[in-house]
Amino acid sequence: MKLGVNIDHIAVLREARGVNNPNLIYALSICEKAGAEQITIHLREDRRHIQDKDVQDIINHSVLPVNLECAIDPKIIDIVCSLKPHRATLVPEKREEVTTEGGLLLDTTNKKLVEAVEKLKQNEIEVSLFIEPTQKDVDTAKCFFNVDWIELHTGKYSNLYSMLYSNLAHSNHSIKELELDRKSLKQMLDKELKNLISMSDLAKELKLKVAAGHGLNYQNVKDIAKIETIEELNIGQSIIARSIFTGLEKAIIDMRELID
Ligand code: PXP
Repeated sequence: MKLGVNIDHIAVLREARGVNNPNLIYALSICEKAGAEQITIHLREDRRHIQDKDVQDIINHSVLPVNLECAIDPKIIDIVCSLKPHRATLVPEKREEVTTEGGLLLDTTNKKLVEAVEKLKQNEIEVSLFIEPTQKDVDTAKCFFNVDWIELHTGKYSNLYSMLYSNLAHSNHSIKELELDRKSLKQMLDKELKNLISMSDLAKELKLKVAAGHGLNYQNVKDIAKIETIEELNIGQSIIARSIFTGLEKAIIDMRELID
């Protein structure tokens, strides 16, 4: 299973101070040396972390393929087509959100979405749709959009896992709607894991390539890594958070070992 490392959070730290440090280009060779197989970045409409010039520089300097996450906004799609990353992953975006909160609404009548997919294909950029793990969305991704990849949103699984097995429930960041008894959380977690397995298997049968990501960390990644039909994981926050204490290379090596 391949590992894509999302390096947005390095840019978050840089932008917090408005300086040119930490340097994203410096991270590229460390990711490669540590066993990452892809660099993932998200060019958000609000440019809160990755900037246009970062995308250009990363594409120019990375020996690893670059997976560029982006919204379906026509201006962003034009930028993506001019920069030509290896892959574009279309994600939903809300200005006020802390991170990508859910999968794309795969509305086949949404002109912007249909045109974004077509334009990326015309520009020979691999297209991935970041979707909720539902049968309807997997079918639509294949049968209507006929994309190369889907990325299954693991946010629900990750939230349930954290509320059940970490200290999150006792912290300021407890997820209110998941403040449930342990038995209910466990049942919901098991159900979500089974759902991810069957949606990934279905996608594979339909000849879609399957990635997964969001909220994956050193505790919850093992069960996801066992799903044979998932080809790739994209992981950011947990790796960059650990790198503060261990350095980036070790943080990636540790994640690689868990996945392997
Ligand atoms: N995959 C996609 C499509 C994402 O939008 C994100 C978050 O930017 C990730 C993976 C990585 O999520 P995390 O930072 O929670 O590991």
